[in-house]
Amino acid sequence: MTALTLSTSSAATLRADAIVVGVAKGPKGPVVAPGAEAVDKAFDGKLATVLETLGAGGGEGEVTKLPVLSGLKAPVVLAVGLGDQPAKGDGFAEETLRRAAGTAARALTGTKKAAFALPVEDAESVAAIGEGALMGAYAFTAYRGNGAAKKDAKSAPLAEAVILGAKPRDKAFKAAAERAAAVAAEVNRARDLINMPSNDLDPKSFAAEAQAAAKEFGLKVEVLDEKALLKGGYGGLMGVGQGSATPPRLVRLAYTHPKAEKTLALVGKGITYDSGGISLKPAGHNETMKCDMAGAAAVFAAVVAVARLGLKVNVTGWLALAENMPSGNATRPGDVLKMYSGKTVEVLNTDAEGRLVLADALTRASEENPDAIVDVATLTGAMVLALGNRTFGVMANDDAFRTSLYEIAEEVGEQAWPMPLPAELRKSMDSPVADLANMGERMGGGLVAGLFLQEFVGEGIAWAHLDIAGPAFHESAPYGYTPKGGTGSSVRTLVRLAERTADGDLG
Ligand code: BES
Ligand code: MN
Ligand code: ZN
Repeated sequence: MTALTLSTSSAATLRADAIVVGVAKGPKGPVVAPGAEAVDKAFDGKLATVLETLGAGGGEGEVTKLPVLSGLKAPVVLAVGLGDQPAKGDGFAEETLRRAAGTAARALTGTKKAAFALPVEDAESVAAIGEGALMGAYAFTAYRGNGAAKKDAKSAPLAEAVILGAKPRDKAFKAAAERAAAVAAEVNRARDLINMPSNDLDPKSFAAEAQAAAKEFGLKVEVLDEKALLKGGYGGLMGVGQGSATPPRLVRLAYTHPKAEKTLALVGKGITYDSGGISLKPAGHNETMKCDMAGAAAVFAAVVAVARLGLKVNVTGWLALAENMPSGNATRPGDVLKMYSGKTVEVLNTDAEGRLVLADALTRASEENPDAIVDVATLTGAMVLALGNRTFGVMANDDAFRTSLYEIAEEVGEQAWPMPLPAELRKSMDSPVADLANMGERMGGGLVAGLFLQEFVGEGIAWAHLDIAGPAFHESAPYGYTPKGGTGSSVRTLVRLAERTADGDLG
């Protein structure tokens, strides 16, 4: 991954292949943002005019490359748009800096070392620029041919990012940079797993990834294989996974801190491929379904991030892994599954499989009586219809907890929105043969799914459900630090939740 360092060197003397500066949209044209004074000086104080001449206005996402004739060691200046200039006295929003650094890092593909001369006001801005640069520099290259394309230096991600204006020995700055590097590395881990095609990432190999990471980061790991799941009565996981040639797994990944006062349980939907099963998805709806394990990837990555940061909280990650395939062994619509909780579920639609694997994992997680449970899942198309492609829905059995999660997401620059769990929708899942059915009313389908999950959460445990079906996988053009493909949605929210829990800020 891209290396991240801090420096107080002047942009004029620092050796780098490019210098990144910010340009904001002022009332009368582009304005060079603070942090780029030395660069402006190398352009005789006329950097804004030069940019304007080239048609740059400072709009968000805008990138302008300039050659350097003299005054700087770097041969190239890259001006990145920051959007509207903030009101006097206000700084740039963290997410503005994060996205601008990401846009710049993407535009610097093929560059070795870039210095970021963006506005640094405090440790938070350092963290935002660092995260943005390292997430923006992400590229998924594992499946590129071994030929020239793979080795082409021009397509190599930015190798080194230096943030200027931040003392490397300053404790707060140093911690911010280290945190940014850890969080970005884990967001990128989640992205790699999501992008990995389902012929290589199946429940078994996913579990092996968790075991390898557990070894590396000193986590406790347990894997229930199909025999253990059958013996244990995990009817949800087994029912979904039984049509696949690669059987299901339930992974428990635990980070503990000797002084922790609270325990968080994170539960992730890990459908390594969702064909829909016997209720097969039509063409046009299955091309991106390798992403249906994005919840488990986010949980996995968040647990590792918490371990890297050594937070004073216990965090247990549950990865509910299965592949949803049609076959002679597959669950049929109308089949009844006996879940791990003992409840029976009539499977009306085998494509509503996420809730079945999550139900078992939620019951199992509840047995350990954690202080809170958060599940993350690419659960419903209905949530995508409701909130679009960039926003995840937050549902909960506790209003304060839902509000906290929504606020945390906002704080870390993830788009989220609170959604209700209207009690009257529950009866739409009544079944004539079983305790409940795995689907109900179509209207409010995302909320119906949330109500299904709620049935499997232990009594008295605060629980929230993040439906990331929209933002988990980005299909259109990259923007800011968001690439095409897996995004790592919710990793940053989960890590901040763990930090807040460690700090005793939550109930
Ligand atoms: N994995 C899908 C949901 C999904 C849709 C994720 C689009 C990402 C993008 C889920 O398993 C599913 O198929 N849900 C069904 C539920 C329905 C059958 C009750 C849906 O949303 O259509
Ligand atoms: Mn499905
Ligand atoms: Zn699914």
